[in-house]
Amino acid sequence: MANIAVNVAGLSLRNPVMAASGTFGYGLEYADFVDFSQIGAIITKGTTLHPRQGNDYPRMAETASGMLNCVGLQNKGVDHFCSQIYPQIENLDTQIVVNVSGSSPDDYAACAARIGELTALHAIELNISCPNVKDGGMAFGVTTEGAASVVEAVRRAYGGTLIVKLSPNVTNIADIARSVEAAGADAVSLINTLMGMSIDIEKRCHRLSIRTGGLSGPAVKPVAVRQVWQVAHAVSIPVVGLGGIMTAEDAIEFIMAGATAVEVGTANFIDPAACQHIAQGINQWLDNHHVDNIADIVGVVD
Ligand SMILES: Cc1cc2nc3c(=O)[nH]c(=O)nc-3n(C[C@H](O)[C@H](O)[C@H](O)COP(=O)(O)O)c2cc1C
Repeated sequence: MANIAVNVAGLSLRNPVMAASGTFGYGLEYADFVDFSQIGAIITKGTTLHPRQGNDYPRMAETASGMLNCVGLQNKGVDHFCSQIYPQIENLDTQIVVNVSGSSPDDYAACAARIGELTALHAIELNISCPNVKDGGMAFGVTTEGAASVVEAVRRAYGGTLIVKLSPNVTNIADIARSVEAAGADAVSLINTLMGMSIDIEKRCHRLSIRTGGLSGPAVKPVAVRQVWQVAHAVSIPVVGLGGIMTAEDAIEFIMAGATAVEVGTANFIDPAACQHIAQGINQWLDNHHVDNIADIVGVVD
């Protein structure tokens, strides 16, 4: 079998496939379906300093080749995470990355500092790109200054691997990537969801409670591959690619565009063992193509 272990800025993964934030709970919900030792990492649902209710229902809508959501970072806050969730996941047989969100640089930093105290966890993914919250979230991720201000604050407060998740809803994603690299990010992940809208024409109303939502799934993949390719050419830190990955071949497309590792999101709603199946498929693809080491195909398409 090929060597598919990868290292994302100090975070060692058995294979390059991580479960994307918000689509895999804290992993525990999937314990009956997935062998955790067969996936690279679980990225938890978004965690904030204070509890958040999320948005009103309806907050999901199906679209052609994808879905819209406006969940809005519903979670019980970092205290609950540390006291109730962490003891249940600290010994899972895979890496756990905590997805952190906030409404100001200070509360992102305070939340990250709390996660930094948890000795079994070695990385956070900073969500500066959520399109579904009114305060903060994507507002930081759409300007170079906003993105850098959050990353600088978190960098001062957190010593582990800092992956910064970028928004695709920008004019030039390479500029944002360069600004977070300069501010101290160890790696970047992209893409978060694309802003969308859906209207029920019979009821003459929006399908989502807050009107707009984030589009994910196969529909976004070409946009995501293009942006991963752009960012991989703009920064020298590792790039984690996601957006519409359903199969091993999709994942390899991202890797050839320059991603060191990938995340799988919406596919988990169709096949709860999608991450595991995609990791196995990558191994098979490499064997079939006589590639000994996954590193040999990272960024091969210029
Ligand atoms: C229901 C749902 C909830 C999500 N929650 C989060 C979140 O809390 N934090 C975050 O950074 N991304 C969140 N995302 C975005 C995904 O992690 C991912 O970036 C996006 O869905 C694109 O990947 P995909 O096409 O494989 O789903 C969420 C996506 C969905 C569909």
